[in-house]
Amino acid sequence: MNGLKKIASKVVVCTLCDLSLKRKNSVPGTGPENAKLFIIGEAPGKYEDEKGLPFIGLSGRFLNKYLEAVGIKREDAFVTNAVKCRPPNNRKPESKEVDACRPYLIGQLSIIKPKLVLALGTSACNALGIKYKHLSDVRGKSMDLDFFGLKLHVFITFHPSFPMRFTKPRDTFLMDLKEVARLLNSQQ
Ligand code: URA
Repeated sequence: MNGLKKIASKVVVCTLCDLSLKRKNSVPGTGPENAKLFIIGEAPGKYEDEKGLPFIGLSGRFLNKYLEAVGIKREDAFVTNAVKCRPPNNRKPESKEVDACRPYLIGQLSIIKPKLVLALGTSACNALGIKYKHLSDVRGKSMDLDFFGLKLHVFITFHPSFPMRFTKPRDTFLMDLKEVARLLNSQQ
């Protein structure tokens, strides 16, 4: 069993926090071990909980459309979430839940060693320990992080549900994803 499969096998039986009590399926994440791009969302929603796969509902379709628009193949990226189980009524995951789930994220990142991590929204930033007052302080920026000994290059943008619901931030979201594509294709 490869390393990602080993982590997934632990995630599917995880009881480290109370989100495990109400889930149908946990959602470890999908994508190849050699992914250059590692995408972190917030938490599984209804469809993801039903199928055990990340970003397959409406915000997933919205994200896929924007990734495709900038020439990024979703199947080449590893896609996961700050927490691997659906919070009741799709509420935001609590910090203690993000904390409980972090070891899985660290494990996945340490196996994949991506060129770039794309943090989608506040919960993804929380999972990575990125501190700010407002998301707008860090959105559209990339930064180097020492994350539990792993050297990560992280780019931050909105969670796709925001530009999905409101038209105004869509141009900014597209601009951010273009920058993600540029960083992925750059030499360093
Ligand atoms: N929203 C997320 O943040 N992640 C998913 O997997 C689905 C919706």
